[in-house]
This record gives sequence, C-alpha cells and structure tokens, in this order.
Amino acid sequence: MADLRNNFVGIKSPNPFWLASAPPTDKAYNVERAFKAGWGGVVWKTLGEQGPPVVNVNGPRYGAIWGADRRLLGLNNIELITDRDLYTNLREMKQVKMNWPDRALIASIMVPCEEESWKAILPLVEETGADGIELNFGCPHGMSERGMGAAVGQVPEYIEMVVRWCKQYTRMPVITKLTPNITDVRKPARAAKSGGTDAVSLINTINSITSVNLDTFAPEPSIDGRGSHGGYCGPAVKPIALNMVAEIARDPETYGLPISGIGGITTWRDAAEFLVLGAGNVQVCTAAMTYGFKIVQEMITGLSDWMDAKGHRSLDDITGRAVPNVSDWQYLNLNYIAKAKIDQDACIKCGRCHIACEDTSHQAITQFVDGVRHFEVMEDECVGCNLCVNVCPVENCITMEELPPGSLDRRTGKIVDPNYANWTTHPNNPMAVQAAE
Ligand SMILES: Cc1cc2nc3c(=O)[nH]c(=O)nc-3n(C[C@H](O)[C@H](O)[C@H](O)COP(=O)(O)O)c2cc1C
Repeated sequence: MADLRNNFVGIKSPNPFWLASAPPTDKAYNVERAFKAGWGGVVWKTLGEQGPPVVNVNGPRYGAIWGADRRLLGLNNIELITDRDLYTNLREMKQVKMNWPDRALIASIMVPCEEESWKAILPLVEETGADGIELNFGCPHGMSERGMGAAVGQVPEYIEMVVRWCKQYTRMPVITKLTPNITDVRKPARAAKSGGTDAVSLINTINSITSVNLDTFAPEPSIDGRGSHGGYCGPAVKPIALNMVAEIARDPETYGLPISGIGGITTWRDAAEFLVLGAGNVQVCTAAMTYGFKIVQEMITGLSDWMDAKGHRSLDDITGRAVPNVSDWQYLNLNYIAKAKIDQDACIKCGRCHIACEDTSHQAITQFVDGVRHFEVMEDECVGCNLCVNVCPVENCITMEELPPGSLDRRTGKIVDPNYANWTTHPNNPMAVQAAE
C-alpha cells in the first residue's frame, strides 16, 4: 500500500489532503467532523485581531457558474474572514488539536499591516498548540479595501516585511498564502522567500463577477440591488492555479520552496496533478462545500490506488515529477508531428469536428464522402491542432496519433526527422542554435 503520510515543513498529517481556510473550517463542530471523515489537516477559517466584530452581508454571498448538467464549475463569494470572536476560535482550536494530535491544524491569520498587530496575535495562536500559521495575503474583497488580504499580497515589499515579523515573533512554521490577482506570481513568492517563509500556499480566490441580473441590472449575488466583485474558486480555477504552482516550482529563485497547492481540487486526480507539478500537499474548499466532507475518502483511495498501480511508494516519489517537463514555448519540439484520427465505430456523425475544423481551423475533416455523411481526417491537411478532439462530444472518439520518425508527413511532403527526439540540441531548434553561437 502506498504511504500517504505527509510531512509539510515539519507539519505531519496522515495524508496530504487539508481543508483550506473557509466555511468548512470555521468552527470545532465542522473541523471535528472533517477529521472523522479522514481529512489530514485543516487551515482554520482566517482569524482577525480582537476588536469590533467582522460583519458579513445578510443576503446571498455566493454566485456560481454551472455546466449544462448543473454541475457546479465555479463559485464566487463575497464572504469576509471569520465573524466569530477571536477567543472563541482560539479556545476551539486548542480543544480540537488536543482531540486530534495526529492531524495538522493551521491557523490562518489576517491582521493590519502593522508590526504590533502581528506581534500581539502570534503568541495567542501559538498557545493553542496549532502546528503552523498561514498568512492570508489573498482575500480579494472586503478586507483588501481595509488594507489587508490581497492589498498586502499585491505588494511584494509588504509580504516580505510581514513574513519577517512572523518569523521573528513565532517559532511556528509560516505558510504564506498568495493571491492570484497579480500579473506575475513569482514576485510575491520570491518576496515571501526573502522574508524567510517556510512555504507558500496558492491560490486564494480570483476577482470576479459571475453574472448580472438583466432585470435589475445588478451584479450577482445582489444585496439590495447592488453587487460587488467576489472571489472565484472551484473547478474553473484549477488551470490557473496549476500554472501558478508550476511557475513557482520551476523558478530558479524559489526552487525547492515548499508549496501547498490550492484551487479547484475535486478528485484524487486533480490533487495528483498539483503534487506532480511541485506541491508538497493540497488544500480543498469548494469541493467540500459542494459534496461534503466525505469526498476526501475518494481522494485517499484514488491517490493510493494510482500510486500502487504505478509503483510509487510515497509522496516523495511523485512530488514535482512533472516540473522538468514544463517548458517555455521556444523549447517545444517543432519536429514532433501528430495527426487526428476519428474512430468510425465511435463516431455519432454529429459533425461538430467538421464545423470546427472547416470554419475555424484547417479544413481537414470531410463531411461527405461519395455523397454519404462521413467524417474523416484528411492527413495531408491536418496540422494536428487538436481542436476536433476538444469539441467532439464522444470521449476518445478522436485521438491524436504521432507520426513515427522517418515517416512521410503528407501535409508538408517532408520526412519526419529521424533525430527529432534530440530536440534540445537539434540544429533546427532556434534556442539550441542560439546556445551554440
Ligand atoms: C466562502 C469562502 C470563504 C473563504 N474564506 C477564506 C478565508 O477566510 N481565508 C482564506 O485564506 N481563504 C478563504 N477562501 C479561499 C479558499 O481557502 C481557497 O483558497 C479557494 O476557495 C480556492 O480553493 P477551491 O477552489 O478548492 O475552493 C474562501 C473561499 C470561499 C469559497
């Protein structure tokens, strides 16, 4: 059996699946049941400093995007950090940690960007026995207008400064949670590293308006006829999150910096993709909010079965395995050639591949052959773009087939370069030529 035990910056948990800081982790009642269901750890809903209570809206706080089958694809929220009293949260965290010593309990914190505020809250959190802290530099709404959350996460100098204070005033490991609402995510990651962070976690939610009511002309969710931008999460954000994780994992300046991967993780496969792109563990929010705590059981068995089938014994065997294969465009092998192929037995003759190819690509798929409706790829026109595979409603009906080295590419009339595997040093590779010059 694959060993799923996780050691993330010294924080141990029985598996790499943590619940992200959000409503699923906002009280002992939830966290206790999450641990019973099997979650390896939780990041408690973000704590603020003791003071006037945080007040949430009293109307709808979520907007959404659905697939045609009404499956939730993207969730938008305008919720703030915890609106429960600081000391109630701290008391519950301490009790939960005592009840579940083998699970990871991380305190997420967001206080004003002043040294005294961080200095004051850190010992209170440390006293709960929490395993670490996560700095919430990501919340894109409500708190950022007050100079916290994403307002800090968008300024690398502030990130570095706050991380430094935290490293100075606590012995707990520091995880810096990054906002995706920034042009180049490597900059805040580098700043966090310069400040001495033990790890980064990403992504927090993405600025968004999910829909507008065309009767009232108000963005949704609407509060008395008005809406504000919210934070977008769920399956729709996974590609953005994966790219940002990979960007940090392969950046020479942050290479080796532990990453907790977050964003749209719904299945074991999503989680495995984050791990192989460099995440040391993963955090989940929307999937738990959509399907409940027990979803972790599919994640645990799925990951474990896949690792067993592939002979991977521990998480160390898979973490970061895909990172060397993430490349800048100019290093892609232009001698590699693939063509689409339609499985005639699986084809339902809907014609979507033909329309897509005919109207927007390379006119490489037939519609009629000898007067009969028939969809077939014309190899001498196909550039291998893959659009037909993506618009086809039947899974695996259209596949991409590689032309073996030495064979004839009927589109260009050229023989596929027998040496194309050696692309990095190939003379036709502009980057290789540059390197040689
Ligand atoms: C309703 C809601 C509240 C959230 N509150 C917090 C929060 O208090 N602190 C925080 O760091 N992230 C918060 N998040 C962001 C999540 O922790 C997570 O980064 C984000 O949802 C992406 O993960 P997902 O796609 O699995 O949901 C919240 C998300 C949602 C949906």
